[in-house]
Amino acid sequence: MTVQITLKPANQSFPSRPEDTVLAAGLRAGLAMPYGCRNGLCGMCKAKLLSGDVTYLREPAGLTSGESCAGYILCCQALPRNDLRLELEIGPLSQNIPARRMPARVEKIQRLNHDVLQVILKLPESIRFAFLAGQYVDFILPDGRHRSFSLANAPQQDNLIEFHIRHIDGGRFTGELFDHLKQYDLLRIEGPLGNFYLRDNSARPVILLAGGTGFAPTKSIIEDTIARGIPRLIYLYWGARSREDLYQHDRALDWAKRHGNIRYIPVLSDPKPHDNWSGRTGYVHEAVANDFPDLSGYEVYGSGPPAMVYAGQTVFLKQGLPRENYFSDAFEFAND
Ligand SMILES: Cc1cc2nc3c(=O)[nH]c(=O)nc-3n(C[C@H](O)[C@H](O)[C@H](O)COP(=O)(O)OP(=O)(O)OC[C@H]3O[C@@H](n4cnc5c(N)ncnc54)[C@H](O)[C@@H]3O)c2cc1C
Ligand code: FES
Repeated sequence: MTVQITLKPANQSFPSRPEDTVLAAGLRAGLAMPYGCRNGLCGMCKAKLLSGDVTYLREPAGLTSGESCAGYILCCQALPRNDLRLELEIGPLSQNIPARRMPARVEKIQRLNHDVLQVILKLPESIRFAFLAGQYVDFILPDGRHRSFSLANAPQQDNLIEFHIRHIDGGRFTGELFDHLKQYDLLRIEGPLGNFYLRDNSARPVILLAGGTGFAPTKSIIEDTIARGIPRLIYLYWGARSREDLYQHDRALDWAKRHGNIRYIPVLSDPKPHDNWSGRTGYVHEAVANDFPDLSGYEVYGSGPPAMVYAGQTVFLKQGLPRENYFSDAFEFAND
């Protein structure tokens, strides 16, 4: 049974399917719901329940018993049992692009390095897939489970969509893709989702902090700004272990060469002797922190490993970055 969720004070209502968490239903409706880990840990999706009932598959760690007694819930874990009214501040609408489910056919598969696969999907001709650069989609597995992957292309190209997929040891979905995916296979996706997109209502310089395949959404954002002629100063910090993990290094160098407003700073945490690396080393979020002791005038967008995204947040806020100017997609595993 579909239930209705209403957010106050925005008075925004949206439907929720039985298998949806409050967060999943809100993101699908195109709302800028706050979230972080999506695993019940960080507390960023906390909302006050004004009426209705929710249930959890397991008690979330990110909510104290005091908060629970005071009527707070964690939207990323709470399953509505009936219609809900919630007190929750949401950001401006993600241009209100509701997500939808659609089939997509594999157009091209290519290894970008030892553990990253580029997958290009073709959408049905009848579908014009609108999204904001930086957003992600969920792949829907045959058993209904979801796996999230960021769109790597700019929205101007909306019939073919691109993903950079890192192989996870023992991973169900990525293992299946690496071992068996072939051209013309049919997959099901749902999107666009998420709040990780460039806020273009400001002229602040932008720092894109990417770890590994966290490069994918930053590529989408950069290609979108180039296509739209946005002149904002953009620093791309791309962190990886060794040189081969910077799987589109030449492309990033090319952006910086051709566009005076784009700066590219690759940072390796574990360069190999044969890399002959003379560039920056260490953790990528620390490189940003070293280069920008005062972040009060910037916007930072972090995508990739959760450890990098959260460590970056902690240090950047200490260096003056306003909380509302840090945007992130932590590449957490799905909470099956
Ligand atoms: C918003 C968002 C966007 C994302 N975008 C991208 C993207 O563009 N590209 C990309 O490559 N990934 C992206 N991810 C991460 C991606 O969703 C996961 O890697 C993927 O869901 C793994 O699916 P799986 O079925 O292969 O692995 P699962 O079967 O879900 O996971 C394997 C399980 O094994 C364990 N495990 C295995 N290996 C490891 C490891 N190395 N470290 C820790 N635990 C491990 C974990 O407990 C995990 O639960 C994104 C995630 C989110 C939330
Ligand atoms: S606790 Fe819900 S997003 Fe982190």
